[in-house]
Amino acid sequence: MHDSSACITRDGELLFAVAEERISRNKHDAGFPHHAIRACLDFAKIRADQLDYVCQGWPAPHKVFGADLKNFATGKYPATYLNVLNSARLYASMAHQNGGFKRFTQQFGATRGQMRFVDHHLAHAISAYSYSGLDKAAVVVMDGRGAWEASSIWYGHDGYLDHVLTIPWPNSLGLFYAQFTEYLGFVPNSDEWKVMGLAPYGHPGIKLDEFISLNHDSYQVNAPLLFERSNGTSLIAKRLGPQRTPESEIDDSFKNIAFAVQDACEIAMMALVKQAIQKTNCRNVCLAGGVALNSKANGKIEASGMVDHIFVQPAASDDGVALGAALAPFLDKGGRLPMKPMRHAYLGPEYTDAGIEKVLVTYKLRATKLDNVAATAGEMLAHGKILGWFQGRMEFGPRALGARSILADPRDPEMNAKVNNAVKFREWWRPFAPSMLKEVAGEYLEHASDSPFMILTSQVRPEKRDVIPSVTHVDGSARPQTVEKEINPLYWNLINEFGKRTGVPVVMNTSFNLRGEAIVNTPTDAIRTFFSSGMDALVIGGYLVEK
Ligand SMILES: [Fe+2]
Repeated sequence: MHDSSACITRDGELLFAVAEERISRNKHDAGFPHHAIRACLDFAKIRADQLDYVCQGWPAPHKVFGADLKNFATGKYPATYLNVLNSARLYASMAHQNGGFKRFTQQFGATRGQMRFVDHHLAHAISAYSYSGLDKAAVVVMDGRGAWEASSIWYGHDGYLDHVLTIPWPNSLGLFYAQFTEYLGFVPNSDEWKVMGLAPYGHPGIKLDEFISLNHDSYQVNAPLLFERSNGTSLIAKRLGPQRTPESEIDDSFKNIAFAVQDACEIAMMALVKQAIQKTNCRNVCLAGGVALNSKANGKIEASGMVDHIFVQPAASDDGVALGAALAPFLDKGGRLPMKPMRHAYLGPEYTDAGIEKVLVTYKLRATKLDNVAATAGEMLAHGKILGWFQGRMEFGPRALGARSILADPRDPEMNAKVNNAVKFREWWRPFAPSMLKEVAGEYLEHASDSPFMILTSQVRPEKRDVIPSVTHVDGSARPQTVEKEINPLYWNLINEFGKRTGVPVVMNTSFNLRGEAIVNTPTDAIRTFFSSGMDALVIGGYLVEK
């Protein structure tokens, strides 16, 4: 569907994971992940014929097509010529490829391993529970669509995962959010972040009851209404006014609609989590599925008082499905999942200083070898420089967490605009996020908790909002990364060096990419992006490149 990826595990230990988009450079790449699979095999130094299992988090083609036909027959999904044709074409091509396994064999050779289809939401659920570090947890999966699923609830206990409930597609929160994302002039299944960022600029008042009904423990999306179009106009546009033209000015009515969409999504997510807690009698919660990237809603769930612990799979969208699918065989014959907490997301490719130097020489770039990378970078940030920061293994999941990041001084109220205009070329309202030493999280945030993945939004303490204005959103919130010395010593040291010079051990961290592009993976990607933007310097491995 989108965000294809691959990972490799050995004895239940996650060794390596990468999204196809990072290598193909095609953002949200939905193609067969041949680059990603090749990178996995290369990392583990094995051949395909040495694999025990090849798993994918998507069911066999006939099961998906069967679910589609049922939806057409019951009128849940309009049986238009185009919808039926698309569904049949997808089925034909997937069946021809045996769901991709034929392609795997063609590209990587025969394997003695077993080829496995894993139900999509089961794969999402494993990706949340098995990596959570929680023995017992209510697991909630919410996405645009699985094969037939939209949301599901599971109960994880002692390595087992019991299915509790499935809400079938198209009664889908992801669908609801995506349709409004498109209405607001953005790309559905991609730009939902923008709606979330825009929402705090709006005000309450818009009613969306026709499109989604909410109650205390669930939700009902009116999918037929969301799909309906007459003369090319969606019913949303008929009810709420013409759809926004992409890149056009955003007037108040669109801001208010973004507010209403986000508000409805938060209420629905909260209701589902509440239901999961009641049904499992467990107050630990794990979340996955693309909807769980809604960090604002996640933060509210965490602060609600109804959960004891929360773990959100950082690769909550379909890239993370690989992590769950790979572990699914452990559940065979009543078996238990390995329970290995995911403490970081640095699971991707890495480049040595020797490799980086070779690239710098190839491009005839003047670079300085640094004695103390963290101190130099901290000093430059304190002087207002905007830095490209390329270090260690690339992150898995949508967030940059100090391996492929653009960094700046969060104290400068103008920095948000500077980075937006000079580097990211993105919309003015989208907030930037802070990375802070774990030790100071309580000083800066209300409800400070361990937040290594930037997937939970917190409120910045009122007295600190003027201290770090460029990473505090208009509603006083921030999407923090708490950095632990033990996990990422170099990044921790950099923030600490910045803190020593400024008294504020917090940096502004945004992903190392230009607007609309995938996050950089290789040194070449980093150099190209550096010279296509207004960044002042690039700290790449042990080297400093300046303009
Ligand atoms: Fe999904």
